[in-house]
Amino acid sequence: MKTPRTTKKHQPLIIGNWKMNPKSLTEADMLAGGLAKSVPKTGPAAVYAAPPYPFLDVVGKKLRRTRISLGAQDTSTQDSGAYTGQVGVPMLKSMGVEIVILGHSERRALGEANEEVAQKTRGVLKSGLIAVACIGEKKRDRDGNYFNEIEAQLRAILEAITASSLGRFVIAYEPVWAIGTGKHATAEDVQEMKLFIQKVISDTQGRKAVGKVRILYGGSVNKDNAEELLTIGEADGFLIGGASLKALEFSAVVHIADTYARS
Ligand code: PGA
Repeated sequence: MKTPRTTKKHQPLIIGNWKMNPKSLTEADMLAGGLAKSVPKTGPAAVYAAPPYPFLDVVGKKLRRTRISLGAQDTSTQDSGAYTGQVGVPMLKSMGVEIVILGHSERRALGEANEEVAQKTRGVLKSGLIAVACIGEKKRDRDGNYFNEIEAQLRAILEAITASSLGRFVIAYEPVWAIGTGKHATAEDVQEMKLFIQKVISDTQGRKAVGKVRILYGGSVNKDNAEELLTIGEADGFLIGGASLKALEFSAVVHIADTYARS
């Protein structure tokens, strides 16, 4: 039996997180060129590519006449100043970035705490950009303790942002054990976690907030599992790592999301 929908269908968001790839500007230019050629020209899904900072300019130019918009993988809590090695939101905005990924587990593994993720998310939302905050458990246990981990990550962020910015606030549920492993969460896992996340949103921001926040899934998404994760999993889109570095694979996922959104 198909589970009844808990919220109205959102426009799917498909975000490619290139991570620290590729190794050169030339290769980044080629990948962007491949995406420009293969991603369907139009469609209901919103599509983003988030390359490393040094490639934003070249990738942005290559994608200019496509439906793919520019994203960034992180930002500083500060706008500008004496913060060696950091990149602030105003800089990203001036490069044409529209969406910023925050609190990815690979950044949390380097020591980024919930409070910092919350502060960055608030800064991005305040600037008018879309914030994609990543949450996810390190491992699953039979007792369901991972729900507490998710709730702590989520509450820290939700308590830091204003109700008026929720339309630009996106959550990416990315279980750490599913990232880059080829072992994605099942569609049932994703649907269950979406319900749980919605409950925490309702508790902290009120019931009306639930329908405004998009909840994506990330972790070994590819063209073979995308459809099920959208339909049964009820994901509002995907944050894609490995498969975003292959233009044809990424395009296939965009096509699946377009088809789902039209149905
Ligand atoms: P993956 O990465 O698709 O390679 O599992 C997802 C992510 O880290 O955002």
